[in-house]
Amino acid sequence: MKLLFIGDIVGRPGRNAVKELLPELHEQHALDFVIANGENSAGGSGITPKTAGEIFSAGVDVITSGDHLWDQKEVMELLANEKRFLRPLNYPAGTLGQGSGVFEVQSPKSKAQGPISVAVLNAQGRTFMPPLENPFLLAVEEVKRLREQTKIIFVDFHAEATSEKIAFARFLDGQVSAVVGTHTHVQTADEQIFPGGTAYLSDAGFTGPHESVLGREIEPVIQRFLTGMPQRFEVAKERVILHGAVIEINEASGKALTIQRIAKAATE
Ligand SMILES: [Fe+2]
Ligand SMILES: [Fe+2]
Repeated sequence: MKLLFIGDIVGRPGRNAVKELLPELHEQHALDFVIANGENSAGGSGITPKTAGEIFSAGVDVITSGDHLWDQKEVMELLANEKRFLRPLNYPAGTLGQGSGVFEVQSPKSKAQGPISVAVLNAQGRTFMPPLENPFLLAVEEVKRLREQTKIIFVDFHAEATSEKIAFARFLDGQVSAVVGTHTHVQTADEQIFPGGTAYLSDAGFTGPHESVLGREIEPVIQRFLTGMPQRFEVAKERVILHGAVIEINEASGKALTIQRIAKAATE
């Protein structure tokens, strides 16, 4: 089976790019399942039921998140009611929402008969990030639990430091199908498959305006670095690109066969 992961969707330009490009990507790659990080989908900060609804309607099956989770108060409704929306697993016990889920792919394009179960797990790093529980310890337990239901497991590891991302993925090698990083908004060129069969990419990049600083207008960010004074960081507009990765997975073993980086320009 083939799944597409889409890097952090930033604001309306990012949402529009998903709407425009997903049908073509489906066609091109014969996708069975689509996962997207939506932590910046509402005005660049956070996510609301409305922006999540737009992303789901565009053809995304599961939305993951990260440190911008709480930026919009309406997220509480998603955390309480939407099983297709994940937050990082390693929030303290009792936090609303869920860090993983198992989803049915009803009509896979592959040869496998009947529906396939795909697990998605979202975790957040702790290096140069707000303190959360240890993602290594929690993820290994969660993966053990998920593997009782399916061997096809995709992990979005939302983290800043490449060392933490690589160590996390190496730690899970052979236990999950893929670990793809998010959060830096800069797509890395280190896609590979580890010896145990886990596909890896340090960062998927972001989906939104690239004539920007990580999706925001350039000038206020420069001013912030020059003066240290707080600025309004509006979402930029130009050169919209969808960033992500397509991963092909052996359904029987759950091991990755290929990983391909995606960078597709929007026309609108
Ligand atoms: Fe982000
Ligand atoms: Fe983030």
